[in-house]
Amino acid sequence: MQAKENPFKPTAGGEPPLLIGRRKVIRDFEKGLDNGVGAPGRIMLITGARGTGKTVMLTVFGDRARARKWDVIEETASEGLCERLVNELRSKDSVLDHFTIKPSVSFAGAGISLGEAELSPKRMPETLRKAMADRLESLEKHHAGLLITIDETQAAERSDMIAIATAIQHQIRERRNIAIVFAGLPQMVSDLFNDEVITFLRRAKTNVLADIPVDEVQNAFAETFAASGMAITEEQLRTASEATYGYPYMIQLVGYHIWDAVDMRESNVIEDEDVRGGISEARIDLDNAVCVPELHGLSPKDREYLEAMAQSDGAVSTAEVAERMGKSANYAATYRKRLLDAYVIRETERGEVDFAVPFLREYLRRTAA
Ligand SMILES: Nc1ncnc2c1ncn2[C@@H]1O[C@H](COP(=O)(O)OP(=O)(O)O)[C@@H](O)[C@H]1O
Ligand SMILES: [Mg+2]
Repeated sequence: MQAKENPFKPTAGGEPPLLIGRRKVIRDFEKGLDNGVGAPGRIMLITGARGTGKTVMLTVFGDRARARKWDVIEETASEGLCERLVNELRSKDSVLDHFTIKPSVSFAGAGISLGEAELSPKRMPETLRKAMADRLESLEKHHAGLLITIDETQAAERSDMIAIATAIQHQIRERRNIAIVFAGLPQMVSDLFNDEVITFLRRAKTNVLADIPVDEVQNAFAETFAASGMAITEEQLRTASEATYGYPYMIQLVGYHIWDAVDMRESNVIEDEDVRGGISEARIDLDNAVCVPELHGLSPKDREYLEAMAQSDGAVSTAEVAERMGKSANYAATYRKRLLDAYVIRETERGEVDFAVPFLREYLRRTAA
């Protein structure tokens, strides 16, 4: 058999050849672009646990915007976010080329470089607002808009978020053609978006990336294996798709390892053994790529809290967890907060806690034994 490329992509941010589900989120975004200035989808928030496809979603949004001849700036939150945004806003624009900031170059006698002064925390909101306005103005001449995407927003510094919120608010008031999407772990909603200073962003349309229905996973597996010339039975498809629980990263892992097992035998017919073996390989990868890093850096007490949680099949109250640990509610609340801050667990609408990442419960049960 000729060497073929595995159609599954179990890599962070790797755009899957076949995007499963997510139609509504994509539609919300596209409607935002098409319905003009002031449409709700123009300020959007994408949240979900690790591996649910946030980065992929931003990539898709970027493609959809470019298809409409929009400019796209893709950033990831970390120190210096606004500085990078300012630089990107000013690049590619010939009119403003000579203003391009080079913070290392200082002006003789000035003592401080122009770049440094402009990019000082105090001046940043104004600098960013101006850079955004200039870019939008030149884009407007070409009837084009600007999309900015910010990934890993939970890691953003508050001052950067304030500067961004201020700048965006201003452009929207000026009826400029701009859209912005923030993606990040669920906790960012309470951390950053409930911040008094950033109230403007509360208007953002929030989309939580939930599990993909197993039926859709099954259809996608059927399509992908067929396109690859591999024969797979209905029952094998069901077993494979159920093993993913609709978790996007696991979908790619399961698909990848089954495909690989068949390919290794130089066959075109999927055997039950390929499915079984593929799923167990996928679980090993998931442990190493998601479960182990999630637990890394946690104290033995944090882990004790998680193991007490794992005794339940679903969400559980902290009072119950405390009881299982044989500790006071106050004591347990301390660990609850630590784990929420570390994004390992999440709070449900009813105030209970659940694992932020599927499979962590099962992993803890398995390794506690
Ligand atoms: N809608 C989807 N359909 C199929 N696979 C997806 C989908 N979204 C994400 N994936 C896959 O899941 C994995 C994790 O996606 P990623 O965007 O990195 O997640 P996150 O940014 O939320 O951690 C990648 O391997 C990606 O290809
Ligand atoms: Mg990501």
